[in-house]
Amino acid sequence: MVKFSGYSLISSFTPVHSVVLKSRRRLFLVKCCKNSTKSRGLSTCVQVDQLYTKGNMVARRYHRPLFSVAPMMDWTDNHFRTLARLISKHAWLYTEMLAAETIVYQKGNLDRFLAYSPEQHPIVLQIGGSNLENLAKATELANAYHYDEINFNCGCPSPRVAGHGCFGARLMLDPKFVGEAISVIAANTNVPVTVKCRIGVDDHDSYNELCDFIYKVSSLSPTRHFIVHSRKALLNGVSPADNRRIPPLKYEYYYALLRDFPDLKFTINGGINTVTEVKAALREEAHGVMVGRAAYNYPWQLLGHVDTVIYGAPPSGLTRREVLKKYQEYGDSVLGINGNNRPNVRDVAKPLLNFFHSEPGNSLWKRKADAAFQDCTTMKSFFEETLVAIPDSVLDSPVGEIPSGREDLFAGVHSLLPPPYDASEQEALYA
Ligand SMILES: Cc1cc2nc3c(=O)[nH]c(=O)nc-3n(C[C@H](O)[C@H](O)[C@H](O)COP(=O)(O)O)c2cc1C
Repeated sequence: MVKFSGYSLISSFTPVHSVVLKSRRRLFLVKCCKNSTKSRGLSTCVQVDQLYTKGNMVARRYHRPLFSVAPMMDWTDNHFRTLARLISKHAWLYTEMLAAETIVYQKGNLDRFLAYSPEQHPIVLQIGGSNLENLAKATELANAYHYDEINFNCGCPSPRVAGHGCFGARLMLDPKFVGEAISVIAANTNVPVTVKCRIGVDDHDSYNELCDFIYKVSSLSPTRHFIVHSRKALLNGVSPADNRRIPPLKYEYYYALLRDFPDLKFTINGGINTVTEVKAALREEAHGVMVGRAAYNYPWQLLGHVDTVIYGAPPSGLTRREVLKKYQEYGDSVLGINGNNRPNVRDVAKPLLNFFHSEPGNSLWKRKADAAFQDCTTMKSFFEETLVAIPDSVLDSPVGEIPSGREDLFAGVHSLLPPPYDASEQEALYA
């Protein structure tokens, strides 16, 4: 608990500091933590943080980001986030990555990219980019939408992104720039700025290189929270999908970061598929867990357990029928709002396609949905045409048993940790 109250304080200050002050503060915190026992050390750090940030403290309204749904292009749009929030009240939600240029060039059309319903809090806007001026302008424009945090993308391996003015995972090779970029974003917003990165890029994949990146970025910028996709990125033309499959997961790098940077917060990401596995990561003292594909592919089975299993909330008794009723209201209220008949029923129904995963009637429901996309113009009629395929017992049951998962996913990870990071070289550089 101490650790997580630590998170909420650390993440709740307004990160507008000079780079020099930040850098000193970081070194000081490392020392104070090293001189304490584990739990006492963390609470000591929190007090120090409070002192340094007193004038900038803001009240925190949400639970800690123990669990978050990853940013996923074309997937975590407004529709999916609406569905996710109907299922879990406490999960932190991330937008798809938005390029700073998109925000700047679509200045007159921002609602389309940045608007969301207030229920979606806590919500994080992920920005990508490599032009400092555009990052500053984009942040300023996004302020009007009151996101809870801004996350800077240093993990996307897509050649489309990497070739487009060098951003995404490629930026891990230029931590000085990342530090500048975050400082620019932080100077233009009142909310915390975090980084999502890989554990390495191509041949730059040693634990030491990862630590150099974390050290430099956190010394040169106010960021205190890194989300670590625990596999490296391959930038040699391997597709984004293969980049999420081929490079091996190295959870030991993630856990070594917790040991070597006790003043920072790290969220683990990559290959975690069930609440059982989320719990297993937290049991090994992960600060937070981010899940991507599994949250999209099994929304009910995964998100349906997050509030109770991860946040300790009492069971809500919520059923799929209740979720769909609210989703229908949402869907019918947004159809066509972007003009040109978009979003249409197919767009709004897309996140539902996995809602009945492995339930009786699922295949028939999908076939009916396909047919309904041809002629339905409202979500109400879409549900009338399709839900007959799903038995009442499925629609009216609350979330079921916790699906099995690899309880031992992180067992033994502490015995695999790479040797501790020696920051003395970097400390001399940044002294
Ligand atoms: C369809 C898709 C789109 C993605 N888009 C983004 C993105 O916009 N920004 C980002 O940081 N990561 C993106 N990712 C990566 C995920 O955020 C996450 O890091 C990755 O899927 C590993 O987590 P998982 O194993 O839980 O899925 C995307 C992943 C998928 C499957």
